[in-house]
Amino acid sequence: MWCLNKMCTSEARLDGKTVVITGASDGIGKETARDLYARGARVILACRDMEKTNKAVEDIKNKPPLRINKDEYKKNAGELAIYFLDLCSLKSVRDCAKNLLTNEAAIHVLINNAGVAAYPYEKTENGNETTFQVNHLGHFLLTLLLLPKMQLSSPSCRIINVSSITYIFADIDFDDINLERTYASFKSYTQSKLANILFTKELARRLKGANIHGINVYSLHPGFISTRVSRYASSTIFPCATLCYNMFAQLMYKNAEQGAQTTIYCAVDEEVANETGLYYSNCRVATTYRKANNHEYPEKLWNVSCRLLHLEPEEDFTTFLETVSRQML
Ligand SMILES: NC(=O)c1ccc[n+]([C@@H]2O[C@H](COP(=O)([O-])OP(=O)(O)OC[C@H]3O[C@@H](n4cnc5c(N)ncnc54)[C@H](OP(=O)(O)O)[C@@H]3O)[C@@H](O)[C@H]2O)c1
Repeated sequence: MWCLNKMCTSEARLDGKTVVITGASDGIGKETARDLYARGARVILACRDMEKTNKAVEDIKNKPPLRINKDEYKKNAGELAIYFLDLCSLKSVRDCAKNLLTNEAAIHVLINNAGVAAYPYEKTENGNETTFQVNHLGHFLLTLLLLPKMQLSSPSCRIINVSSITYIFADIDFDDINLERTYASFKSYTQSKLANILFTKELARRLKGANIHGINVYSLHPGFISTRVSRYASSTIFPCATLCYNMFAQLMYKNAEQGAQTTIYCAVDEEVANETGLYYSNCRVATTYRKANNHEYPEKLWNVSCRLLHLEPEEDFTTFLETVSRQML
């Protein structure tokens, strides 16, 4: 299968650009950070475990991506910075956004990568089912809060939502979004990953409708990669599920660096500079199926997400963004 894994071939540099990556302390996010740092970007790792993230920063600084030699890396790499972000807490999302807006002159790329999978049933301090909040709602809020700064940093801004092909198994339970009646850890994961695709479509539509140009939105499946994302599966799906997933992922022959390629492609490649609202896999645009193509779902999800955040989804998008910033910061 390794020969089917496409790599991002763009040599685009990101000197002078600022990139925020959530969940960059490990796995795909860390490898994405390494690549974009090598391209000269100021890369912000928005993470919850400071000790682990400091170690990730050291590792990124000392080890270039495979395609680059060490001398070139040392000479041409950008900057790395850490901001605290725990998506289980909406206060933490707001604080992180506040700090980014205060301290960063611009934000050109936002990569909503952090995620949990097969997580046991648990509610956050905000009363939302944890997987839904970490994988979708927290990123939804972070994106809305950073959008005005991205508008000022445009053109050529990009927002990337890391989804998963497992969305094809999902529906959105609009009457029971926290899955209180029918919780299953796989169901909550696939629902949240479908939400990533629907959010991408709806945000792209709203940006277009408000004549906000120069900010493109992408969603993607990174491939199956043996990372720590499957660590809860043995306790929530079936004994040995983590082992089985990792063995399956290894058969796909994708390591985390290869798993980061479609994210990197969406973040930098010239080929997709004029595309927005689409879904990608293996460094190319991919077709979406089933509920991801439901015409009513994107707006319905938008409205439910606003309701959970106590926001009014106003008609005019620019006014809406101003209200969100006023209420949340
Ligand atoms: N690996 C795959 O096969 C695969 C397949 C399809 C899609 N994906 C998607 O790819 C993305 C990255 O996954 P991965 O495989 O790289 O997993 P990973 O190695 O477990 O990395 C996940 C990252 O998210 C962070 N995170 C988790 N909960 C968080 C929270 N509450 N607040 C802030 N950060 C949090 C983790 O931080 P901690 O270390 O502090 O927990 C970690 O940095 C996820 O969105 C996942 O759904 C992965």
